[in-house]
Parts: sequence; C-alpha cells; structure tokens
Amino acid sequence: MNRLTVKNLLGIKQLTEQDINLIFKTADNFIKIINKPIKKVPTLRDITIANLFFENSTRTKLSFELAEKRLSSDIINFSSSTSSLQKGESLIDTVNNIIAMKVDMVVIRHPNAGASDFIAKNVNSVVINAGDGSHEHPTQALLDAYSIRNKLGLVENKNILIVGDVLHSRVALSNIFCLQKLGATVKVCGPSTLIPRHIHTLGVEHIADLKDGLEWCDVVNILRIQLERQNVKYIPTLREYSMYYGVNREILNSINKKIVIMHPGPINRGIEVSSDVVDSKQSIVLDQVENGVAIRMAVLYLLASKIQK
Ligand code: CP
Repeated sequence: MNRLTVKNLLGIKQLTEQDINLIFKTADNFIKIINKPIKKVPTLRDITIANLFFENSTRTKLSFELAEKRLSSDIINFSSSTSSLQKGESLIDTVNNIIAMKVDMVVIRHPNAGASDFIAKNVNSVVINAGDGSHEHPTQALLDAYSIRNKLGLVENKNILIVGDVLHSRVALSNIFCLQKLGATVKVCGPSTLIPRHIHTLGVEHIADLKDGLEWCDVVNILRIQLERQNVKYIPTLREYSMYYGVNREILNSINKKIVIMHPGPINRGIEVSSDVVDSKQSIVLDQVENGVAIRMAVLYLLASKIQK
C-alpha cells in the first residue's frame, strides 16, 4: 500500500504501523534527494501551504518551511504575535480567511490541545499538527523513531526511556504511541509530580531512579522541563531536578553500556542534560534535526495526494 489511511496528520494515535513505515520508506527517498547538490524536486509545484504558528518554534517551523521549499510548493507564513488575532479575531476566522486565499494544506502549531483537530473538523484543507499544547507532536515522534531506526537498524524490541517532564510533553505522548506501534518498549523516568498519574494505562511503566532507567534502556530521550506550561511548581528547584534527573557524564560512565542520547530540543544545557553529553558521539540530537526535514517532506508528499482540487 502506498497511501496513508488518514487525510490529515493530527496525531500518531490515528496512524497504523503501515502508515508509519510508509512515511519512513518515503523519507528514505527524500534523504537521498536532500543530500544531492540540487536538493529541490518539483513534486508539490501546484500546492500552496500555510504555516500557522500560534506558539514559538525554531526546529519545527524552519524544518516544515525547508521541506515545503524542497518540494517546490508555494508557502505563506503566519505568526500570531504580528497578526489580527491581537485585535480580537478568532482562531477559526483567522484560518478560514487564510484558506480563502486558495490554500491546500495547513501546518498548525498551537498552545491549546485539540486546536488542530478543531481546525480539521471545520475546513476542507489538509491539516498537519505541528504540536498542540501538551497533546501530540506527530512529526517529532516520527523523526525520533526514524532516527532510532537509522541508528540501531530497528525500533522493534528496543527499550526506550523518556526522562523528564512527561506530564506537559506532547513529544512524550506521540513518542509513546509511535514507538509502541513499531514494537518497542517505552518506560518513563522522572519525579512522580511530572509523570501522568494514569501513565500505566498506556502500557508504560514509571521508573523513579534515573540510573535504573539508564541501565534498562537502549535509547534515552531527554525532555525539557516546560516551565511555560506549569502554573504551579512541580519540582522544588531546577538545581535539585538536575541533581536527581540530569543526564551527565558521571551517571553514563556508571552504567555498563553505551546508550543512544536523544533530545527533541530546545535544550536547557546543564539542567536536564549536560553540555558534554549533548555534544558527545553518543548523541544523535543533530541527526534528529536533519531527519526532520526528510520526514516532513514525506508527510507533505503523502498527504498532498489527499487534496481535493
Ligand atoms: N522540537 C521542537 O518542537 O522544537 P521547536 O519548539 O523549536 O519547534
């Protein structure tokens, strides 16, 4: 099968294992293209894409924009801070006005969970979720799983530990869905205040001790403490968090194996992970970013076939 089962990419939850493998296979072809001297293909020449960012982003925004340019689509970029949202216009009016300009696909990042689902229900364009609140970040999970596959050969039967602020993390939820669909075992590690109380209902175990977690895993995916989503304090201090859950050279040297280090970014160096670990040979942080462009090209290409002209 060479078509996705979904019309929009709202979350990993709605994808099948075959969908994910199709995205990976398509990304393999795009990786070859973006490593050629001429990195551009005319594949989406007649497609117009709007990038709607209602929340800050570096990697996702630039990666989507580059993926769209590599596929030769026409793009428009929207930033909420300089828009008429500041004059009181609603989300749906904003999106409908943009789509009225004959936009085929919408990439949306929003601070509220469910924003992309809401847009998808109310417009005919193809919608891609670029991160909605603490809910899902599907392209991040796809690029993370793809990076694990490229590094270790397979995702199946691998042990993946997610460390940190799982409670506020859309990356964690999308990673759990994606990695489990591909046959990996996922466990989470962090202070219990930052772990969702019902995490076990997703088939995910909580390991309280970082060293135990690192000894168990093949790959550790380290998350940032999302202070911007915390109305109350979930940890006493960042210094204390770092003492117990910061991944540093000392704790990595104390385990008897070489594990793969991942981080979705942005990184707060010296808090959840030390600088020398991020910059070490064990780290695939920049491979994740590179793979992100090919994964987003694959998603855009596969969903473009769902556009009704
Ligand atoms: N990983 C990620 O979503 O980073 P940005 O917030 O910079 O897009």
